Amino acid sequence: MRMPPEMQTTLYRPNRPDLKPRIAIIDDEVDICAMLSEFLRMLGYETEPFTDGRRALERIQNRQFDFDLVYTDIYMPGLTGIDILKAIIALDQNIPVILMTGQPTLEDAVSAVRLGAYDFLTKPFNLDLVELIASRALERRRLVLENIEYRNYLEQKVEEQTREIKDFLIHSIESLSLALEAKDPYTKGHGARVSNFVLTLARELSLPSEYNESLRIAGLLHDIGKIGIPDSILLKPDTLTLEEYEIMKTHSETGYKILAPIGSLAEISIFVHEHHERVDGKGYPQGLKGDEIALPSRLLIVAEVCDALATERCYKPAWPASQIITYFRDNRGKAYDKEVTDALLSLLARSGEQILNILRGTIQATFSNP
Ligand SMILES: [Fe+2]
Repeated sequence: MRMPPEMQTTLYRPNRPDLKPRIAIIDDEVDICAMLSEFLRMLGYETEPFTDGRRALERIQNRQFDFDLVYTDIYMPGLTGIDILKAIIALDQNIPVILMTGQPTLEDAVSAVRLGAYDFLTKPFNLDLVELIASRALERRRLVLENIEYRNYLEQKVEEQTREIKDFLIHSIESLSLALEAKDPYTKGHGARVSNFVLTLARELSLPSEYNESLRIAGLLHDIGKIGIPDSILLKPDTLTLEEYEIMKTHSETGYKILAPIGSLAEISIFVHEHHERVDGKGYPQGLKGDEIALPSRLLIVAEVCDALATERCYKPAWPASQIITYFRDNRGKAYDKEVTDALLSLLARSGEQILNILRGTIQATFSNP
């Protein structure tokens, strides 16, 4: 496996490249413990001898040190080697444990392997075997850790690239949206304002933050389908004829068709599709009712209308907060979701003109630059 240059490591602990592999030796027989520790130290490993299994396990569990390998005697007073093996596996399956005993039985060996021990050593030790097992166990650990590190690296890269592709798509569609707004001076900044305001509403409703990204983008792009509306209708200063109005209404469906084929925007395309529905079923294009309309869409609907009312249009001046409050009270549960309307009304009751000025102020913030 070829590693990328920025993560070429042969480490046991990727965050500490200076450290040697560290081995814990646990044996209640002091001489054996010291001898094995010294032998492994001479081989170039860092070792820590323990004659008390409980103390050793405490050190391992507290992560005071990250051990790369553990040798433990099976039969000890207090904690047995099997207890220590089980505890280490529960903590970290990637720390190899080698069980040792002076009274080997086939049963012990079989149960050690079944429980997940890396190997089994009998006393008195064959030092060549001790060395061989240590190097194999540590090599295996190194490969496992390297594999985990590489997998994390790849996952991070995939995540970054997915984000870049999504950002690229969104920026491309935002450009289309800005092209649309450039044609119609009265809708300039509408997408950006709705995007900001729908997030304010979401916060007021304590909506889980996982919706934020989709809501932000849906706010920006909800009218993207108007790109397919002829200028003679889109820019018409007079009231639309019934036939023209029917054509204008197609923009929800067109927006949906533009966004739905883009995998990462599929959910957002649903909110765009539904942004002219009404909870009483009298909206368009699908005539959905109540909960049939996705909750983020119900927020988008209220935010979109609030922006239209709060800002000046060719056919009306900007409404004051009092007029907007009356309008939403009258249409609560008819056109607009009750809960979302209540959130808007409490927001307006609390900060009224101030919140609307933020909406209106975004126009300047976004478009005052030449
Ligand atoms: Fe629209």
